[in-house]
Amino acid sequence: MSATANVTIHRSQFPEAVRCDLLKSLRARRVNHKFHYDSVKQTQKWLALHQVYSPTRNDADCRAIYQKGFATAAHKIKAKQVHVIGLGCGGGQKDTRLLKLLKAHGKDTFYTPCDVSTAMVLVARKTALAVLQEKNCFPFVCDLATANDLTVFFASRLTSHASRLLTFFGMIPNFEPQEILPKLASLVRPKDFLLFSANLSPGANYAAGMEKILPQYDNDLTRDWLMMFLLDLGIEKRDGKLKFEIEGGGSGLKRVAARFFFSRARQIKVDGDSFKFRCGESVRIFFSYRYTPERVLKVLASFGLEVCGQWIAKSQEEGVFLCQRK
Ligand SMILES: C[S@@+](CC[C@H](N)C(=O)[O-])C[C@H]1O[C@@H](n2cnc3c(N)ncnc32)[C@H](O)[C@@H]1O
Repeated sequence: MSATANVTIHRSQFPEAVRCDLLKSLRARRVNHKFHYDSVKQTQKWLALHQVYSPTRNDADCRAIYQKGFATAAHKIKAKQVHVIGLGCGGGQKDTRLLKLLKAHGKDTFYTPCDVSTAMVLVARKTALAVLQEKNCFPFVCDLATANDLTVFFASRLTSHASRLLTFFGMIPNFEPQEILPKLASLVRPKDFLLFSANLSPGANYAAGMEKILPQYDNDLTRDWLMMFLLDLGIEKRDGKLKFEIEGGGSGLKRVAARFFFSRARQIKVDGDSFKFRCGESVRIFFSYRYTPERVLKVLASFGLEVCGQWIAKSQEEGVFLCQRK
């Protein structure tokens, strides 16, 4: 592996855009999830948390549903060259397993790990280089929620004759579906495939399923990771308490939300801007929507994405969906 990496950075993640998004989050008292992956430290904490709590790391059956989804995609794609675009690639572990399987199917593989965090993109690149040639990897930093020209960007990057396989793994829980799905759908062209995964609420009773998965969020590792955002701004642990609860969100969906409740007044400064938090006031730090397989199908269909294969873990806590444009 070379001592340097070429990373393309979209203007949606240029410092002035990031600063503007940060001020927006603080004014609205609702933190944009991208700020939990900003620094190298946050990236490391999230990767450690993922290692402990992610079913794909600890549940062989959950890993198997991804493998089945990957194998079906590899079977359906007839082109010899496949370009995987990992949207919100994180550490790139899932995308790399996909690239390995495509390679085992005799495909020439190309990879664009795409994430809001430069650190994540570099981790994903390193992971993928175990199974991919360096010249076929095109790390890309962008904010998927705000970049409006990605269709053109990805089209310009596409290797001629290559089929495109987009991945959107574990991303949907942290976005309002009405905001991110039109953007995701616009990136999927008629012959492309999309592999999509969602964290699910297990069992027939949606509300009871949510109670069951709450400890996956309400734990020390998650608190430690989420608190990084506030601590970096100068807020201290003793300024308040982080509380998790289940609440109704958009589109009739339920989610786990984390809010920091100030137990004393606190003022912080971000460059020239000052923010005052009163005692008793709260800031929403995080949310994670949980779907059911039926709810995934319905919400994807409403944005023109048709599911042509689905694999649900025996735990019913995670599902993988292979989609195409309707
Ligand atoms: C829950 S992790 C999922 C990572 C990976 N796909 C996986 O399944 O392991 C969410 C990822 O989305 C990225 N992310 C969050 N907001 C984003 C945004 N607005 N645009 C692009 N990536 C974003 C984070 O940096 C993080 O790597």
